[in-house]
Amino acid sequence: MTPHPPGPRGLPYLGSLPAYRRDAAQFLTRTRYEYGPVAKLRMGPYTFTLATGSAAVQHVLIRNKENYCRGQLYKQFELVMGRGLLTMDDDEWRPHRRVMQPAFLRSALAGYFPSVRERTEQLLMRWERHALDGTPVDLVAECLRLASAVIMDVLFGFDIDDRAARIKEVVDQSIDVMFPHGTFQEMLPLWVPTPRNRRVKRNREQLLELADDVARAPAGAGEMTLDSLLRAAARRGEEGWSREELRDEILTIYLAGHETTATAMAWSLISVANEPAVRERLSEEVDRVVGQRSVEYADLESLPYTKAVIDETLRLYPPIWLFPRDAINDDVMDGYRVDAKTSVLLSPLLSHRDPEVWSNPEAFDPERFLAPSGRPPQGSYIPFGLGARQCVGNAVALVELQAVLAMITQRYRLEILPSSMLRYGDTLISLRPMGDVFARVHVRDGNGVA
Ligand code: HEM
Repeated sequence: MTPHPPGPRGLPYLGSLPAYRRDAAQFLTRTRYEYGPVAKLRMGPYTFTLATGSAAVQHVLIRNKENYCRGQLYKQFELVMGRGLLTMDDDEWRPHRRVMQPAFLRSALAGYFPSVRERTEQLLMRWERHALDGTPVDLVAECLRLASAVIMDVLFGFDIDDRAARIKEVVDQSIDVMFPHGTFQEMLPLWVPTPRNRRVKRNREQLLELADDVARAPAGAGEMTLDSLLRAAARRGEEGWSREELRDEILTIYLAGHETTATAMAWSLISVANEPAVRERLSEEVDRVVGQRSVEYADLESLPYTKAVIDETLRLYPPIWLFPRDAINDDVMDGYRVDAKTSVLLSPLLSHRDPEVWSNPEAFDPERFLAPSGRPPQGSYIPFGLGARQCVGNAVALVELQAVLAMITQRYRLEILPSSMLRYGDTLISLRPMGDVFARVHVRDGNGVA
């Protein structure tokens, strides 16, 4: 009989739950190194398979994808996002993705660029005061504000800025709910009036209010914007989307689209600030290609090193560092048994640091993405997932990240203050830097060093 994969035994009854709760990323990393690319984990009553090798990742997301559904862990996401592209299973998902896909095609990107640039210029202007008086900026908060404004502006023509601070709090609390911490409270159904459940409901109501405002706002220009595609889907009479479907898709795009991008943006700026050789090469490229004029969409393909910095950021600090599937039937993966109705965990963080694929995996080295040896094997670089359910917004995110990095590099050099805690770890959320990261802003003279 096919064996189960090897894995830590953990404690009686609890299995590895305490270790996971103490520091999920560190515990899973250790498990990967001790037990290999497919490992079995027991956490309380649940069994998980941790699949980090490229063959196992391909198996789940491409070759035998029919056997894997979103599963139990994605149900947590539904408490916040409702049923949208991210949480739906394939039958329900396919027609929704078909409706929304045109807004994310490469041909749409050039049209989004002016908004990305305008919002980034607002950030650069805000930072002028900090550059003058030497007060540091709160980097993660700034990135969240920018990414939130961009996604709402670009895809819905909606200005969220005046309520950004209030929504940020709701989003932070909601995201915390989406990722299980393995507590008893989480196991209680939503109708039990625990403080956690009351908070979940209150936050969901506030997010739905926001989605309603977006749906009610005057329609933006153009037939292929996400805004008009969603409105058209909702207008299609009997066959059309319900108000709930429309609201859930708006929330899905907003929540899935801005927090992830902001996290990557923050890590790219931190990494560049802390790696003088990378900073020098990046500044040289931006100065040579763009100089003092405005960054244009057409410039992006002439900024390969800037793009490589983003690729490398997404390798070392993938914002979605862990995502799940549930096996529908018993399966054999990479020679090991996976039981029906158990969860499989895919981890960009672990796959991206696999020493069998990546040389010197812990180093921040954008050059690896420019090397002629080309891209790593399929399944070993998955910041946006893989296969049919790959991130719908990946091209939008990449354009935004590359443009923002180029524009900030053109104007400023950042100095990360030593008090900032530059590690991730006890967060089960996305891979945000832990705690606050403060940066001092220095104006560059445009001819090299600041
Ligand atoms: C750096 C930024 C981003 C990262 C790292 C990221 C990561 C991911 C990952 C890993 C998945 C796959 C999850 C799975 O297979 O279970 C995913 C799916 C998704 N992402 Fe992103 N994402 C980013 C930006 C965006 C943006 C900008 C949007 C929207 C504009 C977006 C919307 C979505 C949606 C709707 C899905 C579900 C797609 C589907 O199943 O059809 N994401 N993302």
